[in-house]
Amino acid sequence: MLEIKDIIDKAVQGEELTKNEIVKLLQIEEEEMLKYLYQKADKVRKKFHGDEVHLRGIIEFSSYCKQNCYYCGLRKDNASLGRYRLEAEEIVDLAISGAQLGYRTIVLQSGEDGYAADKIAYMIREIKKDADTAITLCVGERSYEEYKLWREMGADRYLLKHETADKEFYQSLHPGMKYKERIERLHWLKDLGYQTGGGNIIGLPGQNLEHLADDILFFKEFKLDMIGIGPFIAHDQTPLKGKEAGTVEMTLKVLAVTRLLLPLSHLPATTALGSIDNLGRQKALKAGANVVMPNITSSKYRPLYEIYPAKICINEKASDCRQCIGGIINSLGRTVATGRGDTLY
Ligand code: 5AD
Ligand code: SF4
Ligand code: FES
Repeated sequence: MLEIKDIIDKAVQGEELTKNEIVKLLQIEEEEMLKYLYQKADKVRKKFHGDEVHLRGIIEFSSYCKQNCYYCGLRKDNASLGRYRLEAEEIVDLAISGAQLGYRTIVLQSGEDGYAADKIAYMIREIKKDADTAITLCVGERSYEEYKLWREMGADRYLLKHETADKEFYQSLHPGMKYKERIERLHWLKDLGYQTGGGNIIGLPGQNLEHLADDILFFKEFKLDMIGIGPFIAHDQTPLKGKEAGTVEMTLKVLAVTRLLLPLSHLPATTALGSIDNLGRQKALKAGANVVMPNITSSKYRPLYEIYPAKICINEKASDCRQCIGGIINSLGRTVATGRGDTLY
């Protein structure tokens, strides 16, 4: 029986961990051991990514969504949310301003709006024509042909969080959606040559450590280029109203173990973590994260993209967030990366 410390050291050496060993790491509560885990994750991050932090400027371009995910404030049945949808031209302009602020990646994100595929293709083409940035799409489940079209137009990356790698649990949280179809799409995206991102939510009601260990094994098995790991935050206008939020500590543990097992993946310090703890993103950057995704959406729309309540950066402008995050990164003795931060796989 290996001691906890030995399990951490084994992962640092690049060895595989069993599900049981991952669960053991997620059970750590002792301060000293937690510190050890985070420090090792930080070291692995430094060895493989250096001190550069990649910034991805995110445009939340539509809050319409046809899905009804139990946890999300954008869910279709939330009638109290004011919905907005930006025009393609506005999105292109925002992306170009983002590039002028120095962002080398622009993320185009929306609810499952069904935004016209040819308009998205147009946006990709226009942004690529005028700005030297990578483009990441995050618009949910679409057809193979649409993913193919956008890839051909120049989209570089795609984020489609699998949310949880347990089929039954997935389907209990996503009415009308199928786990199999989610995973199938991740395979399509990878086959089409996208740098592919997945990720999970920490602390969902009904989630246990085995679920989280399975998530980490899934990251590993799929060799995800990018992995978003953020805490659950209950939204009042959802069926999960009033449920306890995920914790900072569990989020950091999952992040740190993920860093040990996937040294090359890009791991963001998530906005959700920054929303439940003022220093959440700083803590993540010291426990394995090497990416931050500041908001570049126009101020007037920010409050409406309410996936969860009390989201940070609602009252700021794109230039405010750019400056703020630069300060945070420098205060940690790190630097803002100047390259695009493509996959290392
Ligand atoms: N708490 C935390 N994360 C959430 N997401 C959606 N709703 C919530 C919530 N209440 C995450 C999902 C989704 C991403 C856009 O936001 O992981 O993929
Ligand atoms: Fe829609 Fe995504 Fe929210 Fe689900 S998580 S309701 S698909 S925006
Ligand atoms: Fe938006 Fe700090 S990153 S205010």
